[in-house]
Amino acid sequence: MSFFVSPSILSADFTKLKEEIESVEKAGADFLHLDVMDGCFVPNLTFGPIIVRAIRKMTGLPLDTHLMIADPLKYIKNFADAGADIIIFHPEARSPIEETLREIKKFGKKAGLAINPPTPVSAIRDYLGELEWILVMSVNPGFAGQKFMPEVLPKVEELARLKREKGYSYRLAIDGGINGETAPLAKRAGAEVLVSASYIFSSADRRKAIMTLKN
Ligand code: DX5
Ligand code: ZN
Repeated sequence: MSFFVSPSILSADFTKLKEEIESVEKAGADFLHLDVMDGCFVPNLTFGPIIVRAIRKMTGLPLDTHLMIADPLKYIKNFADAGADIIIFHPEARSPIEETLREIKKFGKKAGLAINPPTPVSAIRDYLGELEWILVMSVNPGFAGQKFMPEVLPKVEELARLKREKGYSYRLAIDGGINGETAPLAKRAGAEVLVSASYIFSSADRRKAIMTLKN
């Protein structure tokens, strides 16, 4: 079983974003995770399509774009045009899920859903066959550097089991509080992609951090 790592730039030094992205790309990152926050769906604000477009020019890594915004449907075209490869949104937001998934696919992008810690797998059960990514949140979204919530692991196990049993093709990712101690728990539960901001960007040796998460 091989595992993938997607560093979230939320903990990068934005005064030298290009070097930061290059450093994780060279260190073995498989994806780059972009946390888009609107100050409404979550109590924090980050960046939008303009920055995604700039990042697109800085790296060849696939961009998994995590939309923590209240009305994702309204902005799918903007993120697709900006160069996002995978567009992930929340069922807890107010956009109609089916229509938003269709909109993402209309632009030839991979579609994913992210579920907050209190949200059960049943909230996305009807869409499992259409999803290319699922992001299980292991913190309440909004900020980097929060503590991992082990109580979400049964959802990872359930989604891994459903994938196996029903032959679904989604990539199963986990996001929040992932570090050298929590990554093995997430992987044991069935997570295939580890998203991590603070653990990777706060470590001086990023290759070592990424390899620790993978192995
Ligand atoms: C949280 C974001 C995460 C965050 C992870 O709202 O969705 O992607 O950047 O940060 P760490 O790895 O520091 O928990
Ligand atoms: Zn995220």
